[in-house]
Amino acid sequence: MKPSLIVHGGAWSIPDEFVEECRAGCRSALAAGWEILARGGAAIDAVEAAIVALENDPIFDAGIGSHLNRDGRVELDAIVMDGVTLKAGAVAAVERVRNPIRLARKVLESCEHMMLVGSGAERFASQHGLELCAPEELVLERERAAWRQCREGAHSWEFHLGHDHGTVGAVALDRYGSLIAGTSTGGTCCKMPGRVGDSPLIGCGCYADVEAGGVSCTGWGEAIMKIVMAKTAVDLLRAAFVGARHAASTPSGDVAPVTPQGLAEACIHLLAERAHGRGGLILLDREGRPGFAFNTPRMAYGYVAPDSSFVISV
Ligand code: GLY
Repeated sequence: MKPSLIVHGGAWSIPDEFVEECRAGCRSALAAGWEILARGGAAIDAVEAAIVALENDPIFDAGIGSHLNRDGRVELDAIVMDGVTLKAGAVAAVERVRNPIRLARKVLESCEHMMLVGSGAERFASQHGLELCAPEELVLERERAAWRQCREGAHSWEFHLGHDHGTVGAVALDRYGSLIAGTSTGGTCCKMPGRVGDSPLIGCGCYADVEAGGVSCTGWGEAIMKIVMAKTAVDLLRAAFVGARHAASTPSGDVAPVTPQGLAEACIHLLAERAHGRGGLILLDREGRPGFAFNTPRMAYGYVAPDSSFVISV
């Protein structure tokens, strides 16, 4: 099977002055993941490597540089899902983990549960060899200044440098047919302490089923949760494969093909129409064909084209 990889650095306003940084961040993430897939490595390693690169890049709202909550603290969420077993590993509201996607993977591979939150997740991290950091190590002065401005006046996204929804994610298919999706976020700026959005929730911010496809979402979590957007996208992919099989068995066989790109756009249409939400998603169908869509001014994303070149867009 030909490997495939798609990544995103969030759907948000992305002012002109940050476009190049977002582009470079997506390129580095693609390079980190593709280096693994191209030499025959596993999709889980590629997704982890790509998302670690995005978490470590302070331009995005994940890992270091994430938005602060109303108490002035970073609370991080992440998930990774295995499309073969349908098992996920998710963590939410962790404050002392530099790379929550690594912890999500530990949960996926070494935990009897699928989601751990807060101090329990951090204890599990220590028990499984992940070093904890001080919460302040994740806080950038840029975010501290924005938080102060919001406290002094009314909360405004303007203070956050347009950096309002820089959730990150990746979906990878490897040559052995394993399909993995992952998502990581600092959540929304000035969120209530303890607030968890769509990102770490199976079916909302992420879903993968090797029979249909894998998805990672970004945007306003409260709206994405209403339409369970990642699972909705995978259900549409499944229906498209069933429809195509059915069409092939009919005498005329002339049903217009439904593309992964068209289905990604249909999901974002549903997000806008049914949940009045804004955001975006990336996906790979089970054959590794990419799709992406957003209804925000911009989304940072990239994928590997059939000739192995990188397509990056912001
Ligand atoms: N989509 C990220 C969040 O709402 O937390």
